[in-house]
Amino acid sequence: MKVLNINTQQNNYNIYIEKGILKNIGQLVRKIYNNRKILIITDSNVNSLYGVQIRASLAAVGFDASMVVLEPGENSKSFNVLLDVYNEMICSEISRSSLIIGLGGGVVGDLSGFAASTFLRGVPFIQIPTTLLAQVDSSIGGKVAVNLPSGKNLVGSFYHPVAVYIDPEVLGTLDKRFFSDGMAEVIKYGAIKNPKLFNQLSAGREYVLENIEDIIYNCCSIKKEVVERDERDFGERMLLNFGHTIGHAIEKYFDYSTYTHGEAVAMGMHSITEMSEKIGITQQGTASSIKNILMKYNLPWELPEIDSQKILRTILIDKKNLGGTLNLILLKSIGESTIYKLNTHDSENFFDFGRFKN
Ligand SMILES: NC(=O)c1ccc[n+]([C@@H]2O[C@H](COP(=O)([O-])OP(=O)(O)OC[C@H]3O[C@@H](n4cnc5c(N)ncnc54)[C@H](O)[C@@H]3O)[C@@H](O)[C@H]2O)c1
Ligand SMILES: [Zn+2]
Repeated sequence: MKVLNINTQQNNYNIYIEKGILKNIGQLVRKIYNNRKILIITDSNVNSLYGVQIRASLAAVGFDASMVVLEPGENSKSFNVLLDVYNEMICSEISRSSLIIGLGGGVVGDLSGFAASTFLRGVPFIQIPTTLLAQVDSSIGGKVAVNLPSGKNLVGSFYHPVAVYIDPEVLGTLDKRFFSDGMAEVIKYGAIKNPKLFNQLSAGREYVLENIEDIIYNCCSIKKEVVERDERDFGERMLLNFGHTIGHAIEKYFDYSTYTHGEAVAMGMHSITEMSEKIGITQQGTASSIKNILMKYNLPWELPEIDSQKILRTILIDKKNLGGTLNLILLKSIGESTIYKLNTHDSENFFDFGRFKN
């Protein structure tokens, strides 16, 4: 079993990574939680695959675990669903000495973490992430949130779990598109911080599946280091947004329906690197290395046809555009990233959407 210790101002906890770890989840939770009551929050896909097994494992060591099962998908990260979850917490008599488990992808993790952080001003919380994206990204770092009709993740908090249990075996049931989606974030970690990881990924999907424990561990380690140094996302943590400025704008432009988050980030990483190569910040050939890796994981690299003015406006109203300056994450080369402060007056020159210009 691989163990990664996360040391934050809020608490100190471990991420445990091992194939098959969920089979012993009851015993593992027993080591860190002495009371009886647990509320598991999950979605119906994950419940039908793993719900019975996990509940049985928890019951076998004497836990009284009830369950809230959400509809799968981003729509569940809403205030209405949050209210249902609070009601279930009351029905299940959850107190501050109970435990909440978020079992699922990033949607379940973000919503259950936010519910845990706010109910009775905070109930202990465990993450069991079941998508690749959740295992390498959303379950680490303590960001929990729900969406508002006017935007994603607009209401949230920083709330760290008391433990994270990652079982890479559950990725076997994940839809291929969701696997690629998570791979975009894995590629991002290599691109911003770890050239060795980036090069290993060129070996392709089979290599990744064979070495999945190590790869997840490496990604979690990178996020751990960055988050520990900048918990509140004012500095170095912004590096994790590589590819996300254009990526978020693309997701929004297409109403969150055409591209997954990872696909949009993939195009964002490639296109911003083409732009930064042009202004001489990035070593020539870097965009092409990114393109080659994205293609290996069935991720798009070329921007679709877009109205360049409209996408630029979307970029400029992003919440990370602070006081006339846009913090762009650029690569100097593969494995070395930097925060580049772009005056918004220069944004039209920088964001050269090339052949899509109207
Ligand atoms: N908190 C953070 O730091 C952070 C970071 C990145 C993304 N996010 C959030 O994460 C969310 C996206 O997460 P996601 O991509 O995991 O989506 P998701 O939670 O919707 O999961 C994707 C799909 O996979 C299914 N699924 C989950 N695990 C499965 C498994 N093992 N086998 C089969 N099917 C499975 C789910 O039911 C769902 O249909 C977004 O809301 C995003 O804002 C948060
Ligand atoms: Zn992302």
